[in-house]
Amino acid sequence: MTATSTVGHIAALAPGDFERACRIIKERAGINLLPSKQSMVQGRLARVLREHGLPDYRSLLDAIEKVNSPLWQPFLNALTTNLTSFFRESYHFPLLADFLRTQTGPVRIWCAAASTGEEPWSIAMTALEALGTGAQVSIVASDIDTDVLDTARAAVYSMGADKGLDQERMRRWFLKGSGANAGLMRVRPELTRMVEFRQLNLVHDELRFAQPFDVVFCRNVMIYFDAPTQRNVLARLHGAMRPGALLFAGHSENFSAHADLFSLRGKTVYERCSVQTARVASWAS
Ligand SMILES: C[S@@+](CC[C@H](N)C(=O)[O-])C[C@H]1O[C@@H](n2cnc3c(N)ncnc32)[C@H](O)[C@@H]1O
Repeated sequence: MTATSTVGHIAALAPGDFERACRIIKERAGINLLPSKQSMVQGRLARVLREHGLPDYRSLLDAIEKVNSPLWQPFLNALTTNLTSFFRESYHFPLLADFLRTQTGPVRIWCAAASTGEEPWSIAMTALEALGTGAQVSIVASDIDTDVLDTARAAVYSMGADKGLDQERMRRWFLKGSGANAGLMRVRPELTRMVEFRQLNLVHDELRFAQPFDVVFCRNVMIYFDAPTQRNVLARLHGAMRPGALLFAGHSENFSAHADLFSLRGKTVYERCSVQTARVASWAS
């Protein structure tokens, strides 16, 4: 189809190119873009075209379909949605604190769609507030998007932009910038030493972890996946967790159809079933 309008000097995203972009991102990252997102996709990909000096969307799509294309990651980063905040869905954190207090020995937590880092830092703050600074808690924080991981690793945020942090937490867990860093705050080393960041695609990457996790936060990412992909990811999370481990989901994510893998324990909090329960339930269905 011929483009009829322009975005700056870039022609509009033709429906065929939009469908092709949707197919590629779904196949490779599980992200299911609805037809209503066409103008959003156009705006985001237009930035990629400008940054990489490409003449049109088709050139970008042709490039990313080649093996190991350097444009794949910018394309992917442009199409993820990274909204997050400190202590988002705050009701989860007292539940996490209660769970941590019942544990003996080291606790391993995976934050599986960590975005720009506010979520893993909130988990780390909760752990140290519940258990004290000697807490044996380690956190793996992963995301598919390398731009957000760079922000998360830098651990520097603008002050006052986030209402999820009260003054007491800002003072206790952040260093206040001055001079050229005025208006910024940096996460204190007590927290940064607890968190290891890595890029990981929840849908396709091999989950290579030394030990099973006691807690997984996988919040507000499953909403971008269709039902079969959600089931696939849930089975993968199940395989990376110990029996009795907790899975924290986003406010609009409901896994009650997967009771063979996870049973509901609280508001969008699930407990990982034992393998035996999973097998029995799958025979019954
Ligand atoms: C809306 S943010 C949620 C951030 C955080 N969990 C929260 O609830 O505030 C969704 C994140 O999921 C990531 N994501 C999307 N598809 C993914 C995939 N296949 N594997 C891993 N992360 C993915 C995106 O890059 C984005 O940072």
